[in-house]
Amino acid sequence: MKIARFSRIGFILAAAGSAVGLGNIWKFPYIAGEYGGGAFVLVYLFTVLLIGFSIMIAEMLIGYLGRRDTVTCFEKLAPKHKHLWKLAGFQGLAGLFIMIFYSVVIGWIFNYIVTSLSYLPASVKESEEIFTAMLHTSFWTQFFYHTLSFIGIIYVLHKGLKGGIEKLNMYLMPALMIILAAMFIYATTLDAFGQAVSFMFSPDWSKIDADAFVTAVGHAFFTLSLGMGAIMTYAASLDKEANIVKSAFWVVFLDTTIAIVAGLMLFTFLYQYGSGPAKGPGLVFISLPAAFYEMGIIGNIFAVLFFIALAFAGLTSSVSLVEPMVQYFIDRFGWSRLKATVSMGTFFWLFGIVAILSNIDGAKEFLTWGGKNFFDWVDYFTAAVMLPIGGFLMAVFVGFVIPRSEVEAVMKPQLKWAFQPWYFSLRYITPVAMFVVMLSLMGVL
Ligand code: TRP
Repeated sequence: MKIARFSRIGFILAAAGSAVGLGNIWKFPYIAGEYGGGAFVLVYLFTVLLIGFSIMIAEMLIGYLGRRDTVTCFEKLAPKHKHLWKLAGFQGLAGLFIMIFYSVVIGWIFNYIVTSLSYLPASVKESEEIFTAMLHTSFWTQFFYHTLSFIGIIYVLHKGLKGGIEKLNMYLMPALMIILAAMFIYATTLDAFGQAVSFMFSPDWSKIDADAFVTAVGHAFFTLSLGMGAIMTYAASLDKEANIVKSAFWVVFLDTTIAIVAGLMLFTFLYQYGSGPAKGPGLVFISLPAAFYEMGIIGNIFAVLFFIALAFAGLTSSVSLVEPMVQYFIDRFGWSRLKATVSMGTFFWLFGIVAILSNIDGAKEFLTWGGKNFFDWVDYFTAAVMLPIGGFLMAVFVGFVIPRSEVEAVMKPQLKWAFQPWYFSLRYITPVAMFVVMLSLMGVL
């Protein structure tokens, strides 16, 4: 029923577009900053290689073998207990949940593109006031831009896999890389570049405790878009001759490179013009605009370009977050693409409004439970609970449930000698790691 197939480069760009998102440019630099740089970055790189890469291959394999929506993939490939395994496919819901706050943050970015055109705050303090005023009082501004993001995302999705998703990524991903490369090259000419490099790469192991370790593992997972069927859904439209290992390699490589480049560039700017690295989630919305201000007119240009790049990264991830459930309703219920897209979009749009309200003075009091507001709960529940469970299930599914002969038939020719270590990692290392991450992010450990 589904005839559209990604071109090979289209698939790599779309999967990389999914992976490269707010996680790389917004979250990675600030958590690296919080945990003191170097050692944290090395733990993250190590996890990406050891766990991320092998689950990426596993998730692509499930989609590649199943060739349908995530629920059908699990159901079809499980030799026994089909009805239980099918539930693993509902992991796609995590994508819709993530969209609830992702779309709101993309809205903030749109707002920053517009305001940076004409104005930058002269100090971190002023910058902070602007950001918190938007967050806590400007309901309509946030509503407007969140709605804009929703419209953009459903527009692209309703155009379909090739005409929408692939096309979007074919334009936005190169544009994003060009913008970041240009700003990165500029950063390398500044004195502070050396400081940024040593911050990111000289490990201070005393800063690494269990918490830092788990955060690095959890982030490696989030940033690669693993565990909720986004990569699986894309891989279901991969052509039969495509090489899974090579594709996975490129996605991991691009995602990691872009995180490192963005981190080096931001830290250079912050050392050179601003207040240094450790600034928390406000890093790109608070510290950075004040640093851009110090750069003069080039700062205005950079600010606009930077937020455009961030919006591009967010949008290409968004389409991959919604597509699994869109595909599910098309495949299983025969819905038209338009109906599926608009329904899924309406879901995250409506709850997104609740997420905005949960930061607004006067409303947030009603939308906060146990010290976290609705916005934070959604973030927490998806990242700490749903994604690790998804990763765990996928590793176990490929490692133990799909008959080994089927896995071998596809993967052995591609992985060769690496087949055995990969299979071992899926069966034993990854499930244990995901389990520990989940418990610890949930605060059990
Ligand atoms: N990887 C994206 C980022 O770094 C976020 C994302 C997109 C995601 N699709 C996903 C995370 C699927 C988990 C699962 O911002």
